[in-house]
Formats: sequence, structure tokens, C-alpha cells
Amino acid sequence: MVRAKIIGTGSYAPERILRNDELEKMVDTSDEWIVERTGIRERRIANEKQAASDLAYEASKAALKSAGLKARDMDLIIVASVSGDMPLPATACILQDKLDAKRAAAFDVNAACSGFIYALSVADAFIRSGTYRRVLVVGSEVLSKFTDWEDRTTCVLFGDGAGAAILDATEGDRGVLSVKIHSDGSMWALLHAPGGGSRIPASKETIKKRMHFIRMKGNETFKVAVRTLESLVIETLREHKLKSSDLSLLIPHQANLRIIQATAKRLNLPMEKVVVNLDRFGNTSAASIPIALDETVRAGRVRNGDYVLLEAFGGGLTWASALIKW
Ligand code: ACO
Repeated sequence: MVRAKIIGTGSYAPERILRNDELEKMVDTSDEWIVERTGIRERRIANEKQAASDLAYEASKAALKSAGLKARDMDLIIVASVSGDMPLPATACILQDKLDAKRAAAFDVNAACSGFIYALSVADAFIRSGTYRRVLVVGSEVLSKFTDWEDRTTCVLFGDGAGAAILDATEGDRGVLSVKIHSDGSMWALLHAPGGGSRIPASKETIKKRMHFIRMKGNETFKVAVRTLESLVIETLREHKLKSSDLSLLIPHQANLRIIQATAKRLNLPMEKVVVNLDRFGNTSAASIPIALDETVRAGRVRNGDYVLLEAFGGGLTWASALIKW
């Protein structure tokens, strides 16, 4: 049976670190509130010139290097992002050009924070069907450029970064075992950026009203996230007849430490088995899981045969999980 196997990972975070105490000088907030309510201590911020494809490029180069492959070996490039370089073309095509990945097809996936797992599900399906063999999957976000730095309810949360994984077709029982993706569009308004699209095109008015920035009803989103993630991870394990104690690692989307802890508690999983890096990166949306995955792999925390569960929740609303036998 053909499966998609992750054979290389990479990540990149911009140099500039924005700490909570700096945010205290920008909006009415405190380090104490941010740490207690979210677990975030600092985040990375892209410079004026950096766009999503630049971060994606650095992460992809690192992933290709770790896989021992060249960009021209790639059949397909999928970029998950809600903060692409521009509305047109796809950031994946700009990345393809930067990498000189001439053979690849390239497109973007928009599923907010669940974007990386959504992209993984597409890559997995292409590989299983035999259409493609090698796929570069990237999550890259420059949310700082879509953040309202006057809105304390959102600006303390987000950060910039990119992570990438190289998937290769393989025979055997290791690789991506299953990917689950879910959406509930009836709740799209909980998390959105209203201006600049075909609904409300960009104008002086939209800029004045700060409509190009992300708006989130955090507390309502929080409750749905906890509820849906709990049932998703249970459903995923049950389907594979696995117990939570069979899991070596849970790599969750890094939105809020309290959401992560609630999911771990529901699974009865000790926090030592849960990857947390949001204290250093904040919520990097589609980039958070591949960054955490890359850090975990590079730290030698994943061994062959380990069961690794990825799970995410984000705008759309969307949620997703991927079970991998490493
Ligand atoms: N500093 C100080 N006080 C604040 C801040 C801040 N930065 N932000 C909000 N507050 C205040 C609020 O005004 C409110 O005050 P009030 O009680 O006087 O009205 C109080 O703190 C509590 O606000 P809540 O919104 O209820 O706080 P909560 O505990 O829910 O934490 C948070 C907010 C961190 C946003 C949380 O709800 C959360 O993490 N939500 C889920 C986010 C998520 O998962 N999003 C999906 C992924 S993101 C994506 O897809 C791009």
C-alpha cells in the first residue's frame, strides 16, 4: 500500500522578537494577562520587506536539505496561508519561482490555522492515488501585517513564521495513516478580515475603518475549539483502535495553552508528550504545526515507529487532525 511519508522538515522564523512587555507599551495589556490567558511570552515579527513566500522559501530550503532532495524533485507545492504575498497569484507559485521548482504544480490552501493539515490531506490524497510522488507542503504566515496593532484582543496573539515538510510516496505501514478535515461555515464570522475582498473591496473607507485587519470573537471561538478538538482527537484514535497511551507525541496548533491543555487532559496525555512552543512564537496560524514538527524532529524527539498526532482549529471555522506513524 502506498502512503505519504514525511522525509524532511524545515522552519523559519523572522529575527525580530516582540516581547509581551513591549506590547504593554502599545496597548492596554499586561505580560501577566497574556501569559495567564494564552501562555504566549513573545512572538516573531517579519520585517517590512518580508512576505509569506520569503518565509516559506527559507523553511522549504531547510526541509529540502533535510530530505536530501532538490526543488526540481518536487511534483507539487502546496502553501497553506491566510496572509499570502498578494490576492493573485497563489503564494505557492511565487515560492515555486523562488525555489526554481520547475516540474511542480503549485497552489494555495486557505483553511486558516488548520491550513497545514488541510494541505497535508491534499498531498496525502495525491500520493495515495499515485498522481504525485513528492510533495512540498508549507504553512507560512505573516499575520503581523493583518493585525490591528490597536486592538488588544487580537494583537497579543499572533506571530509570523513558516514551516515545511517534504512528503514522499512509500510502501509499508509507516507514514500518514489518516487525515481528517472538518468545517462549519455557519461560524465564519467569529474569525475574519472583512475588507479588501470582493464583498467589500479596498477603499479609503475600508482602510479608515481598519477592515483589512483580523477580527476575532476570541471567547466564543475558544469554546468551540475546545469542544471540537476533544471529540476530533478521540474519534481519530478510536478509528485506528489506538489508546492515547499509544501516542508518543501530540503536536497541536499553537493558539492558546489552555486549549492545548484541555485537549491533553481529555486524552489523559501527560504534557511531556505534548509539543508546546507558543510561548516563543505565539499563534502563527498555518505555520504553527510545521514549525513545532520541525523543532521536534530536529531535537530528536520523534523516533521511527512513533505515533504522532497533529491537530488544529481555526477560522472558517475549520478543524483537522492527522495521525502519523513516524
Ligand atoms: N489584555 C488585557 N485584557 C484583555 C486583553 C488583553 N490583551 N484582551 C482581552 N482582554 C479583556 C477583555 O476585554 C475582557 O474584559 P472584560 O471582562 O472587562 O470584558 C477580559 O479580558 C476577558 O476577555 P475574553 O475574551 O473573555 O478572554 P479569554 O479568556 O477568552 O481569552 C483569547 C481571550 C486569548 C483570545 C481566547 O479566547 C482564545 O485563545 N480564543 C481562541 C483563539 C483561537 O483558537 N482562534 C482560532 C485560531 S486563530 C486563526 O485561525 C487565524
